[in-house]
Amino acid sequence: MNILITGGAGYIGSHVVKQIIENTDHSVVIIDNLSTGSLKTIKTLNEIRQQTGKNTELTFIEADLKDFQMIEGIFKAKKFDAVIHFAASIVVPESVKNPIKYYMNNTVNTTNLINLCLKYGVNRFIFSSTAAVYGQPDEIPVKETTPTQPINPYGRSKLMSETVLNDVGAHTEFKYIILRYFNVAGADLKIRIGQRFPNATHLIKVAAETAVGKRDKMYVFGTDYPTPDGTCIRDYIHVDDLADAHIKSLEYLNDNNSDVFNCGYGRGYSVLEVINTMKEVSGVDFKVEYTGRREGDPAILIADNTKILNNLNWKPQYDDLKLICKTALEWEKKLLQEEV
Ligand SMILES: NC(=O)c1ccc[n+]([C@@H]2O[C@H](COP(=O)([O-])OP(=O)(O)OC[C@H]3O[C@@H](n4cnc5c(N)ncnc54)[C@H](O)[C@@H]3O)[C@@H](O)[C@H]2O)c1
Repeated sequence: MNILITGGAGYIGSHVVKQIIENTDHSVVIIDNLSTGSLKTIKTLNEIRQQTGKNTELTFIEADLKDFQMIEGIFKAKKFDAVIHFAASIVVPESVKNPIKYYMNNTVNTTNLINLCLKYGVNRFIFSSTAAVYGQPDEIPVKETTPTQPINPYGRSKLMSETVLNDVGAHTEFKYIILRYFNVAGADLKIRIGQRFPNATHLIKVAAETAVGKRDKMYVFGTDYPTPDGTCIRDYIHVDDLADAHIKSLEYLNDNNSDVFNCGYGRGYSVLEVINTMKEVSGVDFKVEYTGRREGDPAILIADNTKILNNLNWKPQYDDLKLICKTALEWEKKLLQEEV
């Protein structure tokens, strides 16, 4: 197959590109505007491709999805068999301040991409969605059938794209898989790629940055939640297990219809458990400051992953908080060396 991957220079997209290069015979075209992605990641992916010795292709095109003409030109020039769509704006507080950015980038640009798939006969589409579509869910663990009630523009912008996919898929040959990611963390086990973009808000990334001394302290937002230690509980999935779910989703569409799957391990860890694990694997007793709750943080968010386990040929391999923290930490050390 020839697969278009939008956002392939970013964190999760690059891990999927890596796995496609290493584990399949598909060729990949990456479109990325490098707003949060990095050319260094593209360079590393090219090195990984060369090391495989395969003659599959990896092409990078710097382009913005909002440039409809340019994107259509790429669809015209290359015949794609599938699209995996990661490119998006992903910071929840920013989406509250600047909702238009989120609806334009996440909903309008996605709709255009789907339209181009219909026009150029690309009938397989894998979409990066998020647990944010559930908002503050009434049931834990969260099932795919749990009502979607997003509480911020980021979650709503993603849910709108899901709606477009549903409506388009209902009357055409076009098939899609929606993957609703829970908390994605960790890095490539060989520490070649990872989460590069600075000012991350993801807990494990922040804890790793604090452990290596990039931050002098980190904050815990809220200690009075109805959880055993009072801090929020989340379902952390290693980025390489998540990446594998994309490859399995593509295979699934060969013989099955469109569907939606939660991506998580089905169990959660509290903020304090994560911090203590990062302290343990790093050997650094970094400073932690306790402060009030942030608006809109549900106490507990855990995926019911029964559906993905039963339907996709997906077998998670890295369901291990220590391993997740260790790879995140080693990646952060590598970034620090780059800066020296
Ligand atoms: N990181 C998480 O925990 C998480 C959780 C749930 C869902 N997601 C979803 O996963 C996807 C990937 O997230 P990520 O963490 O890898 O983020 P990321 O910011 O590292 O990757 C996004 C990539 O898309 C590119 N991009 C953004 N807008 C673009 C545009 N208009 N045109 C071309 N390229 C564009 C960026 O440069 C970047 O390389 C997103 O769709 C996000 O909503 C992420």
